Amino acid sequence: MHSLDTLNHLVADAISNFRLPNEPRNLYEPISYILGMGGKRIRPVLVLAACNVYSEDVTPAIPSALAVEIFHNFTLVHDDIMDNADKRRGFETIHKKWDSNIAILSGDAMTVLSYRLLAQADQTHLKNIIEIFNDFALGICEGQQMDMDFETTEMVDRQSYLRMIELKTSILLKGALQIGAIIGGATKSDIEAIGEFGRSMGIAFQLQDDLLDCFGDESTFGKRIGGDIVASKKTIITILAAEKLTGEQRKGFIDLYNQKSTNEQQKIEKVMDYYHKLAIKADVERLIDDYLEKAKESLDALDVDDKRKEVLRQILHKLGSRNS
Ligand code: IPE
Ligand code: IPE
Ligand code: MG
Ligand code: MG
Ligand code: MG
Repeated sequence: MHSLDTLNHLVADAISNFRLPNEPRNLYEPISYILGMGGKRIRPVLVLAACNVYSEDVTPAIPSALAVEIFHNFTLVHDDIMDNADKRRGFETIHKKWDSNIAILSGDAMTVLSYRLLAQADQTHLKNIIEIFNDFALGICEGQQMDMDFETTEMVDRQSYLRMIELKTSILLKGALQIGAIIGGATKSDIEAIGEFGRSMGIAFQLQDDLLDCFGDESTFGKRIGGDIVASKKTIITILAAEKLTGEQRKGFIDLYNQKSTNEQQKIEKVMDYYHKLAIKADVERLIDDYLEKAKESLDALDVDDKRKEVLRQILHKLGSRNS
């Protein structure tokens, strides 16, 4: 078994050894820029950790791990255009530093690069892996479209929101784990079970992201605090607040939330005032704990020696208190 530290290093090395052509500079420089910014790199580590549950040798999973991380970075590049975000991982976003056309095309190139890496997987697993990859790639598009549609939907119910985040976020964590497990030689039922672990962890992950967008610290989170409020994103915080309010107060909150305000800071403050008064943060934290607990139960259900689950358990534990 490798330690989490070793897996983190394997991922960091794979990324820094990943070579890109120099020309055209405006295509490849933004790709090096975003990959070099770091980020938590949780998805490629999940690929390797899942592989390591079933196999001592994780080397065959490295190209797929890299494919998943490059694909994730592609989704961020396009997400930042769609969300009109200026900041990512503490740096200027690509569409701000260059322009939107460059961000679109670099993103497109990143999807191709990720499929090229994926194709390096062993023939015996390739069909299964590509199927999972395609499923999450399309699922993310569906989730992202729902996310954008919700910006102009007055309010969204909890069930629709959960479906949306399952698609835009959770599906990729689930897929990363399943790809790793396949390469490691897991049984069909364990591939399902590890996917279930990823599903719950992924939901908790997006709930945390929503929470940090309101209550986080910009210098550690690396993204603008209040960005979701400005864009009228229907996040778990918005939905729980709307659930708690009734009558005129609910209407007042919803009207404010959907306002396209010229004074963004003032809108953020007014919305945050509702969140503080309603003590929403604690409600969201409880919900996150529920999903983390579900994830833990799915991990317990994996049909392997308990010691082999240690790194995944550690990852889950670390996620529980993340601030970036
Ligand atoms: C950001 O993902 C997008 C979401 C799904 C919330 P991460 O929080 O994993 O971002 P990085 O890769 O660590 O920067
Ligand atoms: C993340 O949603 C989903 C994808 C990038 C596919 P967000 O829009 O909340 O992600 P951040 O907060 O910008 O990282
Ligand atoms: Mg988004
Ligand atoms: Mg975004
Ligand atoms: Mg977010």
